[in-house]
Amino acid sequence: MKILVVGGGGREHAIVRALSRSAHEPQLLCAPGNAGIGRDADCLQDTGAEDVAAIVAAAKQEDVDLVIVGPEAPLVAGLVDRLEEEGVAAFGPSAAAARLEGSKAFAKQLMAEAGVPTAAHTLLRDREEALQHLSCAPYPAVLKADGLAAGKGVIICGSEAEARAAVEVYFTEKRFGDTVVVLEEFLEGTELSLLALCDGENVVPLAPAQDYKRIFDGDIGPNTGGMGSYSPVPGTDRALIDEIADAVHRPVVSLLARRGQPFHGVLYAGLMLTEQGPRVLEFNTRFGDPETQAVLPRLRSDLVDLCLAARRPGGLAATRADFGGDWAVTVVLASAGYPESASKDDVIHGLEQASQLAEVTHAGTAERDGEIVTAGGRVLNVTGLGATAAEARDRAYDAARQIEFEGMQMRSDIAARAVERVAG
Ligand code: AMP
Ligand code: GLY
Repeated sequence: MKILVVGGGGREHAIVRALSRSAHEPQLLCAPGNAGIGRDADCLQDTGAEDVAAIVAAAKQEDVDLVIVGPEAPLVAGLVDRLEEEGVAAFGPSAAAARLEGSKAFAKQLMAEAGVPTAAHTLLRDREEALQHLSCAPYPAVLKADGLAAGKGVIICGSEAEARAAVEVYFTEKRFGDTVVVLEEFLEGTELSLLALCDGENVVPLAPAQDYKRIFDGDIGPNTGGMGSYSPVPGTDRALIDEIADAVHRPVVSLLARRGQPFHGVLYAGLMLTEQGPRVLEFNTRFGDPETQAVLPRLRSDLVDLCLAARRPGGLAATRADFGGDWAVTVVLASAGYPESASKDDVIHGLEQASQLAEVTHAGTAERDGEIVTAGGRVLNVTGLGATAAEARDRAYDAARQIEFEGMQMRSDIAARAVERVAG
């Protein structure tokens, strides 16, 4: 069996590693991949993840049996539709179903219709409308660009003055393109990522994970694509997972099915666990990054079987995704300047030593003259596994400390709360 993974980040490296543990022993390709993925799969380096036509052509030329799409942009652009039209099996939602991630306004509309709990919101279509609403909004308030923004389109505003400044970012500077903006109620609580596999009808939850969005320790500084994660999450037992899947994932999947836009692939709910119960912050329509780096190493079911089943309408009926009782903690190593910018071409030292202690997956790396160098904002992910949260965390940090490159940024508090909660 031949499988092509689309993407070139830490998530895709973790997917490639999980596929390589499958009983199907698939031959693995990745487009475009990165320096680390190149050790575990054949990389089609010149085929960009967002180049729909090139991916379809490569999948046909290589005669692959399955394509697994990592990032959101090609999903929203209709890559899965194009592949399936051409007779290539693909794991991921159609463009119509991926709108759940591609448009926050659409997601809000769908949640309202499906009765899914989420923050109250108002749609701001232009600068004037925005300024009008801001004068009577309660603060803090949350502003979100409607379209894809690589996790960076959300601004949390502590005051009306901050919100007015944010409005200029969206509507005057147009940092996120020509977009409408969602003004949302600020929710307090603990965040949780619950990803689930969907086959158009059934919902199979994966293990829960916690993601760290801010750049600095103590959740300070700007939002990033994610600076670390861990799985499982203390306090999130089977009953709570089922409760969330029943309140959130299943109503959305049923509604999309009734609309003739069945959801196949990963439905990722970013949730706030509030005192009033779980509330949806956002939907993603793919594996999370860096949640996947902490979740997939714990998966005991065969990922190839799960992905093939999710493609078929109803294929996941009576299926469970089984996870080990172990813990995984992922620490992201980012380059100088991230998230505003990314530095390149700095030589990375200590990868061999780190790999002996933990799973090291690559994100923004490249190979130059036989050396591995930085090539992006998030550079590496170091995942420690252990029988306890403390053991997994110690392994992740012991391994991460072996790695060095110019300007390396890393949070030092990933999973610290989990260790405390389990111990307490
Ligand atoms: P999103 O991309 O919508 O998940 O937002 C990115 C991050 O902003 C989330 O992970 C939260 O930390 C924060 N956030 C988003 N919406 C809200 C909200 N309504 N209340 C509080 N924090 C939020
Ligand atoms: N971890 C957040 C994301 O994948 O969007």
